[in-house]
Amino acid sequence: MVALEQKVLREGTVLEGHVLKVGSFLNQQLDVDFLVEMGREIDRIYKNDGVTKLLTVESSGIAVAVAAGTVMHLPVVFAKKNKTSNVSGDIYSAMVHSYTHNTDYKIVVSKDYISRDDKIVIIDDFLANGKALEGLIEIVNQAGATLVGATCAIEKGFQGGGDRLRAQGIRVESLAIIDEMSPEGIAFRK
Ligand code: G4P
Repeated sequence: MVALEQKVLREGTVLEGHVLKVGSFLNQQLDVDFLVEMGREIDRIYKNDGVTKLLTVESSGIAVAVAAGTVMHLPVVFAKKNKTSNVSGDIYSAMVHSYTHNTDYKIVVSKDYISRDDKIVIIDDFLANGKALEGLIEIVNQAGATLVGATCAIEKGFQGGGDRLRAQGIRVESLAIIDEMSPEGIAFRK
């Protein structure tokens, strides 16, 4: 998505440790008009696929998913992090390892909100090592639902998570893929 690449070049800052700061429109302040543009792009990708629900994980993924859900007129389900109770077994859950934060956390979704009849697109803000996506895919599989694809706004291609999932046959269509970045510049995959 050229407009997203241009926005990242205009507003993004590359920090130490291969972190891209995009707080002005995605991670702290939300540029709602631009989010809706991203939502339209996600609609274009999946409009013929019979999608019934969008799935994301709190917190920053919710904004992108809601924008897409608004355009596509679809409900958004978000996994909650670090909810430990599993008393009645009425949840789907998966463990996620974060390389960025060097922690493991659990994500959970109530069984009320995804069923085997659902056709799901997973949405997130960033795709780095792909561990959050893997956890969400596990939840889709536990539900017996169909995974249509996964779209993240910004994929850090050099971390390999997206390509590993593609190699497993998963449809991963990120809106912008960064193949190289440093404080000197950002190169997008063409
Ligand atoms: P992975 O899921 O792809 O394996 O990535 P990882 O665990 O390494 O990422 C951990 C968190 O950091 C995620 O958010 C992810 O969206 C975010 N992240 C990864 N790389 C970048 C980056 O370059 N820039 C920014 N701004 N964020 C990045 P999170 O901790 O789950 O937080 P949030 O969704 O609550 O914001």
